[in-house]
Amino acid sequence: MGDRQTTEQALAVHRLLNSQSPVLRAALQGGRRLPLPDVHPPQADLVATLALRRSAYRYADRDLELTALSAWLRFSVGVQRFVPAYGVNDYPLSMAPSAGGLDILRAYLVVRRAEQIPPGVYRYEAVSHELVELSTGDPFDALQEVYVQPEFAQRAAVSLALTARLDVAFAKYPLRHYRTLHVDSGVAVQNLYLVGTALGLACCAVAGFDDAALASLLGVPNTEVPTMLFAAGHAAADPAHNGGSPSPTQ
Ligand SMILES: Cc1cc2nc3c(=O)[nH]c(=O)nc-3n(C[C@H](O)[C@H](O)[C@H](O)COP(=O)(O)O)c2cc1C
Repeated sequence: MGDRQTTEQALAVHRLLNSQSPVLRAALQGGRRLPLPDVHPPQADLVATLALRRSAYRYADRDLELTALSAWLRFSVGVQRFVPAYGVNDYPLSMAPSAGGLDILRAYLVVRRAEQIPPGVYRYEAVSHELVELSTGDPFDALQEVYVQPEFAQRAAVSLALTARLDVAFAKYPLRHYRTLHVDSGVAVQNLYLVGTALGLACCAVAGFDDAALASLLGVPNTEVPTMLFAAGHAAADPAHNGGSPSPTQ
């Protein structure tokens, strides 16, 4: 149980920053579980990967391969190790470090085209390395409302959304942790970029999204807020031309 009053205060700050009024939303229930295959980590030099990493605006017109998707999730936001913490023997620590090791971030996958994963919205379960189906159907129309630059909806094979669970965060930390959970999200974003780059994927972090539209697409409870969106797919054949300069909107 979180500190409810602090969570409410954080939600008030969050809504103020996003010009939103409170929304009563029923959380989507999980359905089918799709296990992701075991995969080898990409073999790439860290500094070379840092130097190669770019934000991509052109993506290949094909499905994201299942092995690439599995490796991307596993090595960027999957479980790194288990430790005795928070009253349990095997508390999961992520490949992306977080303040206090708290498991506050969730990753959701909005799939337009991926091998063996039908179009729809999924929650990534890091401990079991599975996708839990939340809704089915091509999310194109919803994604066009979500992205401030709607061209990402067409180009990216998948969009990964990070959310932060405020109730978990404020069970441990005071209100100023509202800032820290965005830092946690930034750490995860760099992992998504680096592992994606090492796998040869085209990637782009996207802060330009409609908070309410994304929360509604993911069907998250009111105490869980989207913090970042991330577009990914296979790289276009001519990566030297990445589709132009990043938008100056961010
Ligand atoms: C936190 C963050 C948010 C971003 N949001 C957007 C965005 O909303 N739209 C966009 O086109 N690019 C976005 N980008 C990509 C940046 O514009 C890009 O990283 C920057 O211009 C440097 O280019 P590079 O990533 O190719 O080195 C974002 C990057 C970061 C790190």
